[in-house]
Amino acid sequence: MTETTTYTLIDGKKVASDIKEEIAQKVAERKQAGKKIPHLAIILVGDDGASQTYVDNKVKACKSVGFHYTMMRFADTISEEKLLKHIDHVNNDDDVDGFIVQLPLPPHISVERVTEKIRSDKDVDGFTNHNFGSIISKKPLLMPATPFGVMELLRRYNIETEGKHAVVVGASRITGAPLSMMLTELGHATVTICHKYTKDLATFTRAADILLVAVGKPGLITAEMVKEGAVVVDIGTTRVEGPQYPKGWAIKGDVDFKAVAPKTSYITPVPGGVGPMTIASLLFNTLRATELQNP
Ligand code: GUN
Repeated sequence: MTETTTYTLIDGKKVASDIKEEIAQKVAERKQAGKKIPHLAIILVGDDGASQTYVDNKVKACKSVGFHYTMMRFADTISEEKLLKHIDHVNNDDDVDGFIVQLPLPPHISVERVTEKIRSDKDVDGFTNHNFGSIISKKPLLMPATPFGVMELLRRYNIETEGKHAVVVGASRITGAPLSMMLTELGHATVTICHKYTKDLATFTRAADILLVAVGKPGLITAEMVKEGAVVVDIGTTRVEGPQYPKGWAIKGDVDFKAVAPKTSYITPVPGGVGPMTIASLLFNTLRATELQNP
């Protein structure tokens, strides 16, 4: 007899849509009460195709919940000094409750200097050191958007993290590192972080009750690397180009979904898993920033 495994697909699109509805409701209530409508500004430097797609989706999301938004575009030749000055200007613009600088930036601009210039109470990506550090405080401020989205997915699917072994692959400043802190602090999980210096990655991934992968290497995680019954969260979003895709490109995760899914208890697809949650978290943070600045 062949064993058939059933797994639950974690529908990030649906959860994100529920969160957007909750936010739209809160915006409507603020409007009714004559309170300030949240206003998100998006700074985009250059014309990277993937960034353009992400930003388009963020604008669409703002419209769908009734936020005000402003797109601020700059050529990739803008100097760091000019960009920092512009950020200061937005920091001091009382009409803007929150803003983001879409990454990546051109190589002549320091991501760290740009990020640290953002006022932490308007940092709705949750990228500043202040917000990053607040994860381990008793009062988290604006949470890093993607890891917060992952935690929210686990929570809404009632996936227990307490006492579980969570293995995070990828230690980036914007995803892997804050996610590992959230899993420890908020999820009470036992966390292992793997990164590019990890030897024999599979030894670690096979030990995971919950495997979370944020590397950006399509197909990195194969079926042999996953424990039977594990929860798998794929945070990879790589734009792969090819004539076989109707748009000329497709977004691919880090997990070989077809081979891995039957071994899991829960798994996120790409697209439609973690991706939409990043945007939902961005909206959530923007509403929070508005509530804090304009109660
Ligand atoms: N580039 C890829 N993901 C993100 C994100 O969540 N925020 C920003 N600002 N840039 C990104």
